[in-house]
Amino acid sequence: MANENKLQNIIGHCKEYGFIFQSSEIYDGLGAVYDYGQYGAELKRNIREYWWRSMTQMHDNIVGIDAAIFMHQMVWKASGHVDNFSDPMIDNKDSKKRYRVDHLIEGFAETLEKEKGDALLQQMDALLAANDFAGLKQLIDDNKMKCAISGTCNWTDVRQFNLMFSTEMGSVADDANVVYLRPETAQGIFVNFLNVQKSGRMKIPFGIAQTGKAFRNEIVARGFIFRMREFEQMEMQFFVRPGTQKEWYEKWKETRMKWHLSLGISPDHYRFHDHVKLAHYADAACDIEYDFPMGFKEVEGIHSRTDFDLKQHQQFSGKKLTYFDTEINQHYIPYVIETSIGLDRAVMMILSEAYEEQDLSTAEKQESRVVLKLPAMLAPFKLAVLPLLKKDGLPEIARELMDQCRPHFRCFYEEKDTIGKRYRRMDAIGTPFCVTIDHQTKEDGTVTIRYRDEMTQERIPLSSVKDMVIEKTKMF
Ligand code: GAP
Repeated sequence: MANENKLQNIIGHCKEYGFIFQSSEIYDGLGAVYDYGQYGAELKRNIREYWWRSMTQMHDNIVGIDAAIFMHQMVWKASGHVDNFSDPMIDNKDSKKRYRVDHLIEGFAETLEKEKGDALLQQMDALLAANDFAGLKQLIDDNKMKCAISGTCNWTDVRQFNLMFSTEMGSVADDANVVYLRPETAQGIFVNFLNVQKSGRMKIPFGIAQTGKAFRNEIVARGFIFRMREFEQMEMQFFVRPGTQKEWYEKWKETRMKWHLSLGISPDHYRFHDHVKLAHYADAACDIEYDFPMGFKEVEGIHSRTDFDLKQHQQFSGKKLTYFDTEINQHYIPYVIETSIGLDRAVMMILSEAYEEQDLSTAEKQESRVVLKLPAMLAPFKLAVLPLLKKDGLPEIARELMDQCRPHFRCFYEEKDTIGKRYRRMDAIGTPFCVTIDHQTKEDGTVTIRYRDEMTQERIPLSSVKDMVIEKTKMF
């Protein structure tokens, strides 16, 4: 399947089967904002839970918090977001369409032969690293890059555009009441660093994790839930002794890649990408990229953020944010390694990996199915319970099994349609196991269990279903 088709098919599937809808669709939608439907919400929740437990439950020295979205406006001044959280943009004067400069050039590079495209991207990286806006404009002009809408090369100069959304708190609209919708969750961790360290008696090295919404006024938002204006992040700041950051940066690169591979995704679908242009706070940074239907793109960032954020907050707040290290008898501002993964991007990665269109035709019959081969622990429903008929006491046995399983995992009950159709619906939402209750169940207490990926079936004791599903869908 061509990759462009695959993306479109995944988007269509997500809508048809209740995973993801365009926000405010009945009003023609809101750009780059999406709603999760009944199955998408479960899938997203399970990914969040797996990340949360991997970070907190599985590490003695990492705790989780839940900071507010609104924070004091000085937080964003101190972090550098008010002055620096901007992208170079360019407008086409004829269509009035605004482009992120790097996206415009990347899009153009894709139309060139590989060697020429790579050379152009190298030039772009160097100009971005030097903040050379005139040079970027020249590159766009020299290559006669066109606006996709007007088809012209009539461009404005390159300018910076801040990506934060702002609003006012309270009834008086003045500058003092401006609050920002957080563009990253990380700052909620930094400003609580001492609260957590002291109340939890945490010793360095230790981490603080958090998941939550973030907002960015992305200019070019495309690729379905890949780049959204409202999205969710799962971030962890790991506080270390200055001088040890390089070692911890490498450790976290390895740990996070292991987490990705634990999702059963092939190592060939991942790669690291080291940043050429470092953010204002970083002394090393890389992305974990996944091979999405539109090619390799960032799913997670790992950043060595130095002591930049805590130092800035100490300076702007006037509050001491140092830590006393009893092992070396010294006060210092810790260095930080950050791991930051977008939850929505993780959902898109899992869906891209899981989505398969299969041709099951035989000489006698044309047949196909769409299956989501989701990791069993992440599937919205772990088990479907299907009585063969709506009579003869079969629904009662099925309901009893539902009651047994419900407190342990989500299960789905369905008695309409043929078994074949019911299996297909479960394949489409990624349910790993289906059990059918039939007349033999009444005789010998066994059921047919059907496995989603192989489509094989076997009979197992009804009494073993619950424990088998718990075992096969557990996270750890
Ligand atoms: N605290 C560091 C930070 O926010 P980032 O690279 O800007 O770093 C981290 O973002 C992750 O958040 C990205 O790797 C990506 O998965 C996700 N992300 C960023 N912008 C996004 C957007 N507009 N839509 C969806 N996910 C986004």
